Amino acid sequence: MPTIFETFEKYRVIPVIALDDISAVLPLADALLEGGLPLAEITFRTRIAAEAIHTLIEKRPELCVGAGTVLTPTNIHDAIHAGAKFGVAPGLNAETIDLAESLEWAFVPGVCTPSEIESALAMNFTVLKFFPAGAMGGISMLKALSAPYSHTGVRFIPTGGISESNLAEYLAVPTVLACGGTWIASKTDIAEKNWQQIKQRCQRVQEIVANLK
Ligand code: 3PG
Repeated sequence: MPTIFETFEKYRVIPVIALDDISAVLPLADALLEGGLPLAEITFRTRIAAEAIHTLIEKRPELCVGAGTVLTPTNIHDAIHAGAKFGVAPGLNAETIDLAESLEWAFVPGVCTPSEIESALAMNFTVLKFFPAGAMGGISMLKALSAPYSHTGVRFIPTGGISESNLAEYLAVPTVLACGGTWIASKTDIAEKNWQQIKQRCQRVQEIVANLK
């Protein structure tokens, strides 16, 4: 079975999803699966996040489901209890990092400065979310940050401002493991039940990834 990070590297894109309505969870999962992008980061920004993760793990086991916006130890316990295979955070937080490590849970802390990268590396975390990617300078910032650290084996997951139009450019940076983003399944698309459009966006991601090779 591939590790979570191997799965990220295979698909190269992690749909970031904020769910308000539990009835949307299975049609959304089916759109991702039918679109060929079997990954979902369900953010702990809505009160149904844990329930949504639990439902997906139970009813759509073929989907690789993780938790996003993991800010606190409580979020970690709730996410793991719900069955989340991985966790992603916007920032670097010693409390959550220590807990994730002690529980041996695949966890991706967020960074956007050299000092934060060094702190994460010192704690043996080498897969890092680069957030908010666009607002922090986008690809040029990512390349600048990669120069002094790529030899450490660090890999980034840029998130924030990624879309179909800049995805290829981000993915072409050698330190980029995968990109995250809400553009695949936006809140509006989910609210309007645009499942077909979400499926097509997943297919478009695969075309972009295939064209990189
Ligand atoms: C996140 O939650 O990681 C970001 O808010 C996603 O940013 P995006 O909406 O620009 O993709």
